[in-house]
Amino acid sequence: METNNKLQKKKKWFIPLVFSLLLTTLVVFVSIFISPHFSSSQFNRTHLMKNRIPRFVESKLAVSKTSSDSVPRLAYLISGSTGDGKSLKRALKALYHPRNHYVVHLDLEAPAAERLELADFVNNEPLFRSVGNVRMILRANLVTYRGPTMVTNTLHAAAILLKDGGDWDWFINLSASDYPLVTQDDLLHTLIPIPRNLNFIEHTSDIGWKEYQRAKPVIIDPGLYSLHKSDVYWVSEKRSIPTAYKLFTGSAWMMLSRPFVEYCLWGWDNLPRVALMYYANFLSSPEGYFHTVICNADEFRNTTVNHDLHFISWDNPPKQHPHFLNLDDFQHMVDSNAPFGRKFGHGDPVLDKIDSDLLRCNSDGYFPGDWFNLFQNSSTSSIHDITNTTNLRPGPSAKRLKHLIDGLLTAPDFHTSHCV
Ligand SMILES: *[C@@H]1O[C@H](CO)[C@@H](O)[C@H](O)[C@H]1NC(C)=O
Ligand SMILES: *[C@@H]1O[C@H](CO)[C@@H](O)[C@H](O)[C@H]1NC(C)=O
Ligand SMILES: *[C@@H]1O[C@H](CO)[C@@H](O)[C@H](O)[C@H]1NC(C)=O
Ligand SMILES: *[C@@H]1O[C@H](CO)[C@@H](O)[C@H](O)[C@H]1NC(C)=O
Ligand SMILES: *[C@@H]1O[C@H](CO)[C@@H](O)[C@H](O)[C@H]1NC(C)=O
Repeated sequence: METNNKLQKKKKWFIPLVFSLLLTTLVVFVSIFISPHFSSSQFNRTHLMKNRIPRFVESKLAVSKTSSDSVPRLAYLISGSTGDGKSLKRALKALYHPRNHYVVHLDLEAPAAERLELADFVNNEPLFRSVGNVRMILRANLVTYRGPTMVTNTLHAAAILLKDGGDWDWFINLSASDYPLVTQDDLLHTLIPIPRNLNFIEHTSDIGWKEYQRAKPVIIDPGLYSLHKSDVYWVSEKRSIPTAYKLFTGSAWMMLSRPFVEYCLWGWDNLPRVALMYYANFLSSPEGYFHTVICNADEFRNTTVNHDLHFISWDNPPKQHPHFLNLDDFQHMVDSNAPFGRKFGHGDPVLDKIDSDLLRCNSDGYFPGDWFNLFQNSSTSSIHDITNTTNLRPGPSAKRLKHLIDGLLTAPDFHTSHCV
């Protein structure tokens, strides 16, 4: 009796099952045949692939293209703190070119009067007013020396330049104690043939003593939450070396390509964000954040050039700060072929020598390139003529700089020495 019942139950569901299977097969066949993509013999696969909405975001979010302007454009951040206002103005003029974009920042610790004076200069300098390529960060950040707020400040300026700064090809982060050793005409001219996706960032995976002094200790930067400046402090716990990515370190001075800056800021890949949070507790994070991100991102590691484009003179043995450059260092600076030097004391006489011998500045502190004449004759020329100066006037420094950059890019191990 029992077995009979079971059999009957089986029969009850067996017939609907067979029926529904037949129906589904029929529906599938019908839908295939009336589908618009069906070409008598087969599916047009390429057509389908092209019109498909990507299931995985990564396939849609690619690294952006570089510009095709014949002459590149640079985007500068120049930042300083209390007492740096005057040096910052001087550096800004020496670095000025109407093709470029500039963001200046005086740390929140600088007195309001000093920040206002700089704001006034940026707003009222006739050249900046008419070209409109200099901006000041009015909502200033508190930047702690050796703290992660230095990196957030750099990213802040880069974000402003991405959002508001128009076209540019490279981002350069300077401080008020840096100074150019070549004119912008020299620099732009030299960069014309250089692939715009290259990132000049000095780096190494050999973190050496920094493993114990930097990577293991955990620090807190009060600048992240406090209104007033105080030094970073240490947590008593230590942490281990990351295993999810490899740490890299190097110079805090760099020239980054626009695609890489977009990658760091837009964060469609989580690596830049994760690394940023990791470096929030890392001493001297500007010497590691961008290095670690770029070397752990497959799409960027081959774009690194291992140089920071700076002449920096360390004492022997090295101290916490590089030594202040003076007239005795002038020849070394020239011989280094580097486009920037640091660090300079306020109004040091060597700056006058750089102005007269290397930058050929006029009495206003600008290098009078072709655009300068156009500007002076602005009644007859439009702003577009001034900002679209493709006529550069490279001087002897352009040759030295070309020597440096060509040397880096043609080095026999250039293609095999990225991120090692
Ligand atoms: C497939 O579709 C693409 C784009 O619509 C078309 O160019 C191509 O000729 C088609 N191929 C075949 C085999 O139909
Ligand atoms: C950017 O510039 C500041 C100087 O204002 C410097 O201290 C910092 O280390 C630089 N680098 C980065 C990656 O933020
Ligand atoms: C980077 O360069 C290495 C060595 O030349 C090569 O094996 C690798 O495929 C390159 N990676 C990318 C993403 O181009
Ligand atoms: C300004 O324009 C006038 C005439 O257009 C020309 O004679 C003069 O040389 C120009 N000045 C400069 C500095 O280029
Ligand atoms: C800039 O000027 C050059 C000639 O001086 C011209 O060929 C080029 O088209 C101009 N670029 C733009 C964006 O107007």
